Amino acid sequence: MSKTSIASVKGRQVWDSRGRPTVEAEVTLKGGALGRAIAPAGTSIGSGEAVDLRDGGTAFGGYGVALAVANVNGEIAKALTGLDGAQQETVDQTLIDLDATDDKSRLGGNACIAVSMAVAHAGAAAHKLPLWRHLLGESEPVLPLPEVQIFGGGAHAGARIDLQDIMIMPVGADSFAQAMAWSAEVYRAAGLNMAERRRLTGVADEGGYWPNFNTNEDALAETVRAIERAGFRPGEQIALSLDIAATQLQKLGRYWLTIEDRCFERGPFSELLLDWAARFPIVSFEDPFAEDDTQGMTAFTEAAGERLQIIGDDYLVTNAERVRAAAQSGACNAVLIKPNQAGTLSETKAALDAGKEAGFATIVSARSGESEDVSIVHLAVGWSAGQLKVGSFARSERMAKWNEALRIEEQCAGHSRFAGAGALAGR
Ligand code: PGA
Ligand code: ZN
Repeated sequence: MSKTSIASVKGRQVWDSRGRPTVEAEVTLKGGALGRAIAPAGTSIGSGEAVDLRDGGTAFGGYGVALAVANVNGEIAKALTGLDGAQQETVDQTLIDLDATDDKSRLGGNACIAVSMAVAHAGAAAHKLPLWRHLLGESEPVLPLPEVQIFGGGAHAGARIDLQDIMIMPVGADSFAQAMAWSAEVYRAAGLNMAERRRLTGVADEGGYWPNFNTNEDALAETVRAIERAGFRPGEQIALSLDIAATQLQKLGRYWLTIEDRCFERGPFSELLLDWAARFPIVSFEDPFAEDDTQGMTAFTEAAGERLQIIGDDYLVTNAERVRAAAQSGACNAVLIKPNQAGTLSETKAALDAGKEAGFATIVSARSGESEDVSIVHLAVGWSAGQLKVGSFARSERMAKWNEALRIEEQCAGHSRFAGAGALAGR
C-alpha cells in the first residue's frame, strides 16, 4: 500500500448556513494526509442536478442527512478504502458505479460530493500543497473576477423581488484584493441608501440585502446609485450582473414578474431583458430563460451573445453533455460550475472542460446553502475558471471564501494575474 492509499473515510452531520443538516466527509490517507469537505445545498435547484439524500419525516423539516452520513460511513468507506487517493478519477468513478443511478439519488449527491472533495484535499495534503496549487501544477495562477451580490431576491428572499441575484462585477479592478475593497464600498453604500429610504429589511440567504422594492427595475437603479455613491463609474469600473433564475418565474409557459403583476411571453421577456441591458450597465445574465426553454435561451444568445455574457446554471446543471449540446445550439456562452450539481469533482471538471472547449466563459459558484468550506475557491484558481460567484459581502460562509481567495493572491506574491473583465464572455 502506498502513502496515498485511502486509510479511512468518515462522515458526520454538520450544519449549513440556513441551519439545516449537511454532510461533512473526512478522508485520511495511509501516510497521514487528511482531507475534509462539507456539501453545500441549493434552493433554486435545476431538475437535472444530482439529488441530495434527505431523511424526510418531521425532524429538521425533513432535511436530515442521517441516511447520507450512514452511506459515507458504510458503503462508501468500504468501497474506497485501499484505493489510491491521488487518483481522483478512479475514486469518483467508483462512487458513480457504486451509486448506480443517473442522479446520485441512492447514495446521495450530498454524500458523494463531500467525499469527492475530501479526497481532493487529502491528495493535495499528501503533496504538502494547497489544493489550488495541486490542481494547477506549474501554470500561472489566475485570480477570478468576482460576482458579488448586492440584493437577494427570488427563492432566497421570500420572492420579495422576482430577480434572484442582483450582483456587481468589479471589471475595472487591477487585483482581486482591489475588487474586494471596491465591493465592500458598494455593499456599504447600498446599505446606507436603503437605510435612508427606510427600505432596509435584513439580508437574504446569500448575504445580499433583502429588499423592499416596488419593481425589479428599482433594484437595478438602486445598485447603480450604490456604485455611484461609493465613488465608482458604473459600467467602466463596476458593472451589473443578474441571475434571473427564470425557471422560478415560469408558469404555464410564461414568465411572471409577480411584484409588478406582469407576465410575458418568451419574445417580450427577451425584449424586457435587452431593454434593461441597454439602460443599465449589465454585462452578464444567468438563466434568462427557464431550464427547459431552449428556444428562449437560443434566441436570447443569438440576439445578445456578442455583447453580453449568458450563463447556463439550471439550464446546464454542471453537466458536460448539456454544455456540449448548448454549444451546438448556441443556447449560452458561459457555464456556471457547481460541484454538487454534478456530484463528483471529476464530473464537475468535465463540465468545465467542455465549457472551455466550446469557448464558453466558466464561473465556479457556491450554493445558497453554504458553510465554512472554501473548496470552490481552490477549484476556481486550480482550474483557471476566470470567474467566481459566492454570494454577497456579508455572512461568514461567504466571507470565508472571499478571504481564502485573498490569501491565495497573497501567497502568489506578485506571480499571479487577476482575470478582470477579460474573463467575461460576450466582450
Ligand atoms: P441555489 O441558487 O444555490 O439556491 O440553487 C444559486 C443560483 O441560482 O445561482
Ligand atoms: Zn443561478
